[in-house]
Amino acid sequence: MNKGKFIVFEGGDGSGKSTVLEMVYNYLIENGIDCIKTREPGGIKISEDIREVILDTKNTSMDPKTEALLYAAARRQHLVEKVIPELDKGRIVLCDRFIFSSLAYQGYARNIGVDEVYQINKFAIGDYMPDLNIFFDVSPEVGLERINSNDNREVNRLDLEKVNFHHKVREGYYTLVEKNKDKFEVIDAEKSLNEVFHSVKSIITNFIK
Ligand code: TYD
Repeated sequence: MNKGKFIVFEGGDGSGKSTVLEMVYNYLIENGIDCIKTREPGGIKISEDIREVILDTKNTSMDPKTEALLYAAARRQHLVEKVIPELDKGRIVLCDRFIFSSLAYQGYARNIGVDEVYQINKFAIGDYMPDLNIFFDVSPEVGLERINSNDNREVNRLDLEKVNFHHKVREGYYTLVEKNKDKFEVIDAEKSLNEVFHSVKSIITNFIK
């Protein structure tokens, strides 16, 4: 369907995936590989605007289904406005989160149900699925500790959830990885940043060969 490769970084909060994505992106660019980096929710103006509404710590009354729909809406706009055009140019798209985030966070952790969340996302993305998902596995205790000790990181509405919520997110990811083994690579994200970077770098360079 498309010429480029759509590679998605998935994982719990504080798993280090955004930092590693930046490092891998710089490495690929330095080596002359045509790629872009982007993120969800966001990546383009309309989706960044939706992101502000979803993640605003003041929006404590947001209904779980509203949350799921907003993520799906942001995903749709970002996909058609940015991801698809870049893939059509043959580029590698490195994206921080995509559909499996919604299945783990809204489907499992918020208890909406994976099938229901999958249905609204299917409406949003059609047949576009990532070519590869890299799951950064970290215990919620380590992830939240990293977030709390990083003064530069903005704390969002989902970070404020109790540790139990993040355990559910992790269990959700485990189930999704188990059911979609051919679509996932799993990384032990409790290792040092350098080790994680080297593992992800070799997974991606092998994948795009
Ligand atoms: P972000 O600051 O990007 O977190 P991180 O750096 O950990 O990726 O915030 C995104 C938050 O939104 C994060 O808590 C996960 C959540 N999220 C969902 O619940 N569902 C989704 O579909 C997506 C894309 C993100």
